[in-house]
Amino acid sequence: MATTRTGVRGGIVTGWGISVPDKVVTNDDLSATMDTNDAWIRERTGIRERRIGGTTSQLAIEAGLAALARAGRRPDEIDAVVLATTTPDQIVPGTSATVQDGIGVPGGAFDVNAACSGFVYALAVAHGLLAIGAERLLVIGSETLSRITDWDDRSVAVLVGDGAGAVVLEAVDGPGQLLSWNLGADGSLRHLLMCDHGGYLFMDGKEVFRKAVRVVVDSAEQAIAEAGLTAADVSLLVPHQANLRIISAACQRLGIPEEKAVVVIDRYGNTSSASIPLALVDALETGRLQPGDHVLLTGFGGGMTWASAVLRWGG
Ligand code: COA
Repeated sequence: MATTRTGVRGGIVTGWGISVPDKVVTNDDLSATMDTNDAWIRERTGIRERRIGGTTSQLAIEAGLAALARAGRRPDEIDAVVLATTTPDQIVPGTSATVQDGIGVPGGAFDVNAACSGFVYALAVAHGLLAIGAERLLVIGSETLSRITDWDDRSVAVLVGDGAGAVVLEAVDGPGQLLSWNLGADGSLRHLLMCDHGGYLFMDGKEVFRKAVRVVVDSAEQAIAEAGLTAADVSLLVPHQANLRIISAACQRLGIPEEKAVVVIDRYGNTSSASIPLALVDALETGRLQPGDHVLLTGFGGGMTWASAVLRWGG
Protein backbone atom coordinates (compact mmCIF):
# COMPACT_ATOMS: atom_id res chain seq x y z
CA MET A 1 0.00 0.00 0.00
CA ALA A 2 1.27 3.49 -0.84
CA THR A 3 2.51 5.82 1.86
CA THR A 4 2.43 9.60 2.23
CA ARG A 5 4.56 11.94 4.31
CA THR A 6 2.28 11.25 7.26
CA GLY A 7 2.52 7.50 6.76
CA VAL A 8 0.12 5.03 5.23
CA ARG A 9 -3.12 6.59 4.02
CA GLY A 10 -6.06 4.26 3.52
CA GLY A 11 -9.82 4.46 3.29
CA ILE A 12 -13.00 3.40 5.01
CA VAL A 13 -16.53 3.02 3.70
CA THR A 14 -18.76 5.52 5.50
CA GLY A 15 -21.97 5.23 3.47
CA TRP A 16 -23.73 2.92 1.08
CA GLY A 17 -26.85 2.76 -1.05
CA ILE A 18 -28.51 1.01 -3.95
CA SER A 19 -31.03 1.66 -6.66
CA VAL A 20 -32.95 -0.93 -8.65
CA PRO A 21 -35.73 -0.40 -11.21
CA ASP A 22 -39.30 -0.85 -9.97
CA LYS A 23 -40.18 -3.32 -12.71
CA VAL A 24 -39.85 -6.94 -11.53
CA VAL A 25 -39.54 -9.58 -14.27
CA THR A 26 -40.09 -13.12 -12.98
CA ASN A 27 -38.99 -16.36 -14.58
CA ASP A 28 -42.61 -17.03 -15.46
CA ASP A 29 -42.75 -13.66 -17.26
CA LEU A 30 -39.79 -14.76 -19.39
CA SER A 31 -41.23 -18.19 -20.12
CA ALA A 32 -44.30 -16.46 -21.55
CA THR A 33 -42.17 -15.04 -24.38
CA MET A 34 -39.35 -17.59 -24.86
CA ASP A 35 -38.67 -21.32 -24.60
CA THR A 36 -37.61 -21.50 -20.97
CA ASN A 37 -39.18 -22.21 -17.59
CA ASP A 38 -38.93 -21.23 -13.94
CA ALA A 39 -37.59 -24.63 -12.79
CA TRP A 40 -34.73 -24.62 -15.32
CA ILE A 41 -33.68 -21.05 -14.50
CA ARG A 42 -33.81 -21.59 -10.73
CA GLU A 43 -31.96 -24.92 -10.82
CA ARG A 44 -29.25 -23.84 -13.27
CA THR A 45 -28.70 -20.29 -12.03
CA GLY A 46 -30.47 -19.60 -8.72
CA ILE A 47 -32.35 -16.66 -10.27
CA ARG A 48 -36.06 -16.17 -9.43
CA GLU A 49 -36.55 -12.65 -10.73
CA ARG A 50 -34.68 -9.57 -11.90
CA ARG A 51 -35.30 -5.81 -12.12
CA ILE A 52 -35.40 -4.24 -15.57
CA GLY A 53 -35.40 -0.58 -16.58
CA GLY A 54 -33.86 2.85 -16.19
CA THR A 55 -30.54 4.09 -17.44
CA THR A 56 -27.09 3.43 -16.05
CA SER A 57 -26.66 7.09 -15.05
CA GLN A 58 -30.09 7.37 -13.41
CA LEU A 59 -29.56 4.23 -11.30
CA ALA A 60 -26.03 5.39 -10.42
CA ILE A 61 -27.25 8.83 -9.36
CA GLU A 62 -29.94 7.34 -7.11
CA ALA A 63 -27.52 4.86 -5.52
CA GLY A 64 -24.89 7.58 -5.12
CA LEU A 65 -27.30 9.99 -3.42
CA ALA A 66 -28.43 7.20 -1.06
CA ALA A 67 -24.80 6.46 -0.16
CA LEU A 68 -24.11 10.16 0.49
CA ALA A 69 -27.19 10.42 2.73
CA ARG A 70 -26.07 7.34 4.70
CA ALA A 71 -22.58 8.84 5.11
CA GLY A 72 -24.02 12.23 6.14
CA ARG A 73 -22.02 13.89 3.36
CA ARG A 74 -22.92 16.57 0.83
CA PRO A 75 -22.10 16.18 -2.89
CA ASP A 76 -19.70 19.13 -2.67
CA GLU A 77 -17.55 17.17 -0.22
CA ILE A 78 -16.73 14.51 -2.84
CA ASP A 79 -13.46 14.72 -4.79
CA ALA A 80 -14.38 12.33 -7.61
CA VAL A 81 -16.95 9.90 -8.95
CA VAL A 82 -15.47 6.52 -9.90
CA LEU A 83 -18.14 4.67 -11.87
CA ALA A 84 -17.77 1.00 -12.74
CA THR A 85 -19.95 0.11 -15.71
CA THR A 86 -19.85 -2.01 -18.82
CA THR A 87 -23.17 -0.58 -20.08
CA PRO A 88 -22.52 3.17 -20.45
CA ASP A 89 -25.43 5.36 -21.53
CA GLN A 90 -23.33 6.55 -24.46
CA ILE A 91 -19.86 5.75 -25.81
CA VAL A 92 -18.92 9.41 -25.33
CA PRO A 93 -19.15 11.02 -22.82
CA GLY A 94 -18.39 8.67 -19.96
CA THR A 95 -21.53 7.96 -17.93
CA SER A 96 -19.71 9.19 -14.83
CA ALA A 97 -19.95 12.74 -16.26
CA THR A 98 -23.76 12.50 -16.25
CA VAL A 99 -23.58 11.13 -12.70
CA GLN A 100 -21.25 13.94 -11.58
CA ASP A 101 -23.67 16.50 -12.98
CA GLY A 102 -26.76 14.76 -11.63
CA ILE A 103 -25.40 14.49 -8.10
CA GLY A 104 -23.61 17.84 -8.13
CA VAL A 105 -20.09 16.62 -7.35
CA PRO A 106 -17.55 19.40 -7.98
CA GLY A 107 -14.63 16.98 -8.50
CA GLY A 108 -13.54 14.59 -11.24
CA ALA A 109 -15.47 11.76 -12.81
CA PHE A 110 -14.41 8.74 -14.81
CA ASP A 111 -15.69 5.32 -15.87
CA VAL A 112 -13.97 2.03 -15.12
CA ASN A 113 -14.85 -0.83 -17.45
CA ALA A 114 -13.62 -4.19 -16.26
CA ALA A 115 -16.99 -5.87 -16.96
CA CYS A 116 -18.34 -7.74 -13.94
CA SER A 117 -15.08 -7.27 -12.02
CA GLY A 118 -15.53 -3.51 -12.38
CA PHE A 119 -16.58 -2.59 -8.85
CA VAL A 120 -13.56 -4.24 -7.21
CA TYR A 121 -11.29 -2.63 -9.84
CA ALA A 122 -12.93 0.75 -9.07
CA LEU A 123 -12.46 0.21 -5.34
CA ALA A 124 -8.75 -0.51 -5.85
CA VAL A 125 -8.32 2.56 -8.08
CA ALA A 126 -10.17 4.69 -5.52
CA HIS A 127 -7.79 3.57 -2.77
CA GLY A 128 -4.94 4.71 -5.02
CA LEU A 129 -6.53 8.18 -5.24
CA LEU A 130 -6.88 8.33 -1.45
CA ALA A 131 -3.22 7.37 -1.07
CA ILE A 132 -2.18 10.38 -3.19
CA GLY A 133 -4.39 12.88 -1.41
CA ALA A 134 -8.08 12.55 -2.28
CA GLU A 135 -10.30 12.91 0.80
CA ARG A 136 -13.65 11.46 -0.24
CA LEU A 137 -14.83 9.48 -3.24
CA LEU A 138 -18.04 8.06 -4.53
CA VAL A 139 -17.47 4.55 -5.91
CA ILE A 140 -20.43 3.21 -7.85
CA GLY A 141 -21.25 0.07 -9.85
CA SER A 142 -24.21 0.63 -12.17
CA GLU A 143 -25.53 -1.42 -15.09
CA THR A 144 -28.39 -1.77 -17.52
CA LEU A 145 -27.45 -5.10 -19.11
CA SER A 146 -31.06 -5.35 -20.33
CA ARG A 147 -30.18 -2.74 -22.96
CA ILE A 148 -27.55 -4.95 -24.64
CA THR A 149 -29.56 -8.16 -24.31
CA ASP A 150 -31.35 -9.91 -27.16
CA TRP A 151 -34.66 -10.74 -25.48
CA ASP A 152 -35.14 -13.62 -27.94
CA ASP A 153 -31.87 -15.27 -26.88
CA ARG A 154 -32.63 -17.43 -23.85
CA SER A 155 -28.96 -18.25 -23.28
CA VAL A 156 -28.40 -14.68 -22.04
CA ALA A 157 -31.85 -13.18 -21.40
CA VAL A 158 -32.65 -15.37 -18.39
CA LEU A 159 -29.43 -14.31 -16.64
CA VAL A 160 -29.32 -10.51 -16.67
CA GLY A 161 -30.77 -7.67 -14.61
CA ASP A 162 -30.33 -3.93 -14.01
CA GLY A 163 -29.31 -2.06 -10.87
CA ALA A 164 -26.71 -0.01 -9.05
CA GLY A 165 -24.84 0.05 -5.75
CA ALA A 166 -22.60 2.76 -4.34
CA VAL A 167 -20.26 3.47 -1.45
CA VAL A 168 -18.68 6.63 -0.04
CA LEU A 169 -15.00 5.98 0.61
CA GLU A 170 -13.19 8.39 2.96
CA ALA A 171 -9.47 8.80 3.61
CA VAL A 172 -8.02 7.92 7.01
CA ASP A 173 -4.52 8.08 8.39
CA GLY A 174 -3.31 4.52 8.73
CA PRO A 175 -4.04 1.49 6.59
CA GLY A 176 -7.85 1.77 6.63
CA GLN A 177 -10.12 -1.09 5.64
CA LEU A 178 -8.32 -2.53 2.65
CA LEU A 179 -5.98 -5.34 3.71
CA SER A 180 -5.23 -6.65 0.23
CA TRP A 181 -6.30 -6.57 -3.38
CA ASN A 182 -5.77 -8.69 -6.44
CA LEU A 183 -6.57 -7.71 -10.03
CA GLY A 184 -6.17 -9.91 -13.09
CA ALA A 185 -7.01 -10.18 -16.76
CA ASP A 186 -6.55 -12.60 -19.65
CA GLY A 187 -7.55 -10.90 -22.91
CA SER A 188 -6.97 -14.09 -24.90
CA LEU A 189 -10.37 -15.15 -23.49
CA ARG A 190 -12.23 -12.02 -24.65
CA HIS A 191 -14.25 -14.04 -27.20
CA LEU A 192 -16.06 -15.89 -24.38
CA LEU A 193 -18.11 -12.89 -23.32
CA MET A 194 -18.50 -9.92 -25.63
CA CYS A 195 -20.73 -7.27 -27.16
CA ASP A 196 -19.86 -5.32 -30.31
CA HIS A 197 -20.97 -1.74 -30.99
CA GLY A 198 -24.70 -1.81 -31.55
CA GLY A 199 -24.85 -5.55 -30.92
CA TYR A 200 -26.05 -7.89 -28.21
CA LEU A 201 -24.27 -9.62 -25.39
CA PHE A 202 -22.83 -12.99 -26.44
CA MET A 203 -21.65 -15.56 -23.95
CA ASP A 204 -20.12 -19.03 -24.14
CA GLY A 205 -21.83 -19.97 -20.88
CA LYS A 206 -20.22 -23.36 -20.32
CA GLU A 207 -16.69 -22.12 -20.92
CA VAL A 208 -17.24 -18.96 -18.84
CA PHE A 209 -18.51 -21.17 -16.02
CA ARG A 210 -15.43 -23.42 -16.15
CA LYS A 211 -12.94 -20.56 -16.28
CA ALA A 212 -14.80 -18.39 -13.76
CA VAL A 213 -14.55 -20.88 -10.91
CA ARG A 214 -10.81 -21.31 -11.45
CA VAL A 215 -9.89 -17.62 -11.77
CA VAL A 216 -12.10 -16.45 -8.94
CA VAL A 217 -10.75 -19.09 -6.56
CA ASP A 218 -7.12 -18.32 -7.48
CA SER A 219 -7.71 -14.58 -7.12
CA ALA A 220 -9.52 -14.93 -3.78
CA GLU A 221 -6.83 -17.25 -2.40
CA GLN A 222 -4.13 -14.75 -3.34
CA ALA A 223 -6.01 -11.88 -1.71
CA ILE A 224 -6.62 -13.88 1.47
CA ALA A 225 -2.94 -14.86 1.70
CA GLU A 226 -1.80 -11.30 0.94
CA ALA A 227 -3.98 -10.08 3.82
CA GLY A 228 -2.14 -12.48 6.11
CA LEU A 229 -5.32 -14.48 6.69
CA THR A 230 -6.69 -17.95 6.01
CA ALA A 231 -10.10 -18.94 4.64
CA ALA A 232 -11.24 -19.58 8.22
CA ASP A 233 -10.70 -15.87 9.02
CA VAL A 234 -13.16 -14.74 6.33
CA SER A 235 -16.37 -13.64 8.08
CA LEU A 236 -18.30 -12.80 4.93
CA LEU A 237 -17.88 -13.55 1.24
CA VAL A 238 -19.40 -11.05 -1.20
CA PRO A 239 -19.07 -12.71 -4.59
CA HIS A 240 -20.08 -11.54 -8.05
CA GLN A 241 -23.61 -12.80 -8.63
CA ALA A 242 -23.46 -14.62 -11.98
CA ASN A 243 -24.70 -18.07 -11.04
CA LEU A 244 -25.50 -19.65 -7.67
CA ARG A 245 -23.65 -22.80 -8.78
CA ILE A 246 -20.48 -20.76 -9.39
CA ILE A 247 -20.80 -19.24 -5.90
CA SER A 248 -21.28 -22.72 -4.37
CA ALA A 249 -18.33 -24.20 -6.28
CA ALA A 250 -16.10 -21.28 -5.28
CA CYS A 251 -17.09 -21.62 -1.60
CA GLN A 252 -16.35 -25.33 -1.68
CA ARG A 253 -12.90 -24.87 -3.24
CA LEU A 254 -11.99 -21.97 -0.99
CA GLY A 255 -13.11 -23.86 2.12
CA ILE A 256 -15.56 -21.09 3.05
CA PRO A 257 -18.98 -22.32 4.28
CA GLU A 258 -21.76 -21.32 1.89
CA GLU A 259 -23.68 -19.65 4.75
CA LYS A 260 -20.95 -17.01 4.75
CA ALA A 261 -21.65 -16.05 1.12
CA VAL A 262 -24.07 -13.21 0.41
CA VAL A 263 -26.57 -14.21 -2.27
CA VAL A 264 -28.86 -11.70 -3.98
CA ILE A 265 -28.87 -13.30 -7.44
CA ASP A 266 -32.32 -14.76 -6.72
CA ARG A 267 -33.76 -11.20 -6.63
CA TYR A 268 -31.57 -9.32 -9.08
CA GLY A 269 -30.00 -11.78 -11.57
CA ASN A 270 -26.57 -10.90 -12.92
CA THR A 271 -26.12 -7.13 -12.72
CA SER A 272 -22.43 -7.16 -13.72
CA SER A 273 -20.44 -4.50 -11.85
CA ALA A 274 -23.48 -3.62 -9.71
CA SER A 275 -23.76 -7.12 -8.28
CA ILE A 276 -21.02 -6.89 -5.63
CA PRO A 277 -22.19 -3.53 -4.20
CA LEU A 278 -25.82 -4.74 -4.30
CA ALA A 279 -24.78 -7.80 -2.28
CA LEU A 280 -22.53 -5.79 0.05
CA VAL A 281 -25.31 -3.32 0.85
CA ASP A 282 -27.74 -6.19 1.41
CA ALA A 283 -25.32 -7.67 3.98
CA LEU A 284 -24.97 -4.29 5.70
CA GLU A 285 -28.70 -3.63 5.80
CA THR A 286 -29.40 -7.09 7.24
CA GLY A 287 -26.71 -6.79 9.94
CA ARG A 288 -24.48 -9.51 8.50
CA LEU A 289 -21.36 -7.33 8.51
CA GLN A 290 -20.00 -5.93 11.77
CA PRO A 291 -16.94 -3.81 12.61
CA GLY A 292 -13.82 -5.98 12.73
CA ASP A 293 -15.23 -8.61 10.32
CA HIS A 294 -13.06 -9.70 7.41
CA VAL A 295 -15.02 -9.39 4.19
CA LEU A 296 -13.81 -10.87 0.92
CA LEU A 297 -15.10 -9.28 -2.30
CA THR A 298 -14.42 -11.36 -5.40
CA GLY A 299 -15.60 -11.21 -8.98
CA PHE A 300 -14.91 -12.19 -12.58
CA GLY A 301 -16.25 -11.17 -15.95
CA GLY A 302 -15.71 -10.34 -19.59
CA GLY A 303 -12.14 -9.83 -20.66
CA MET A 304 -11.76 -12.11 -18.92
CA THR A 305 -11.05 -10.07 -15.86
CA TRP A 306 -11.08 -11.00 -12.20
CA ALA A 307 -10.59 -9.10 -8.97
CA SER A 308 -10.61 -9.69 -5.23
CA ALA A 309 -10.21 -7.53 -2.17
CA VAL A 310 -10.13 -8.25 1.56
CA LEU A 311 -11.41 -5.53 3.90
CA ARG A 312 -11.40 -5.42 7.69
CA TRP A 313 -14.75 -3.74 8.17
CA GLY A 314 -14.71 -0.50 10.12
CA GLY A 315 -11.02 0.23 9.58
N1 COA B 1 -34.11 -22.33 -20.57
C1 COA B 1 -34.35 -23.64 -20.73
N2 COA B 1 -33.45 -24.50 -21.24
C2 COA B 1 -32.27 -23.99 -21.61
C3 COA B 1 -31.96 -22.62 -21.47
C4 COA B 1 -32.93 -21.78 -20.93
N3 COA B 1 -32.73 -20.47 -20.75
N4 COA B 1 -30.70 -22.41 -21.91
C5 COA B 1 -30.25 -23.61 -22.32
N5 COA B 1 -31.18 -24.57 -22.13
C6 COA B 1 -31.09 -26.01 -22.40
C7 COA B 1 -30.00 -26.30 -23.41
O1 COA B 1 -30.49 -26.23 -24.72
C8 COA B 1 -29.61 -27.70 -23.02
O2 COA B 1 -30.57 -28.61 -23.53
P1 COA B 1 -30.12 -30.07 -24.08
O3 COA B 1 -29.54 -30.76 -22.89
O4 COA B 1 -31.41 -30.65 -24.55
O5 COA B 1 -29.13 -29.78 -25.14
C9 COA B 1 -29.76 -27.73 -21.51
O6 COA B 1 -30.65 -26.65 -21.20
C10 COA B 1 -28.46 -27.50 -20.78
O7 COA B 1 -27.82 -26.37 -21.31
P2 COA B 1 -26.39 -25.95 -20.86
O8 COA B 1 -25.95 -24.78 -21.70
O9 COA B 1 -25.52 -27.17 -20.82
O10 COA B 1 -26.68 -25.48 -19.38
P3 COA B 1 -25.67 -25.11 -18.25
O11 COA B 1 -25.87 -26.01 -17.12
O12 COA B 1 -24.26 -24.93 -18.78
O13 COA B 1 -26.20 -23.68 -17.81
C11 COA B 1 -25.69 -21.36 -17.97
C12 COA B 1 -26.16 -22.59 -18.72
C13 COA B 1 -25.59 -20.19 -18.93
C14 COA B 1 -26.70 -21.03 -16.89
C15 COA B 1 -24.33 -21.64 -17.33
O14 COA B 1 -23.45 -22.18 -18.29
C16 COA B 1 -23.69 -20.43 -16.72
O15 COA B 1 -24.21 -19.84 -15.80
N6 COA B 1 -22.50 -20.05 -17.20
C17 COA B 1 -21.75 -18.96 -16.66
C18 COA B 1 -22.41 -17.70 -17.07
C19 COA B 1 -21.78 -16.53 -16.41
O16 COA B 1 -21.21 -16.63 -15.36
N7 COA B 1 -21.93 -15.40 -17.05
C20 COA B 1 -21.58 -14.15 -16.53
C21 COA B 1 -20.14 -13.92 -16.47
S1 COA B 1 -19.86 -12.42 -15.67
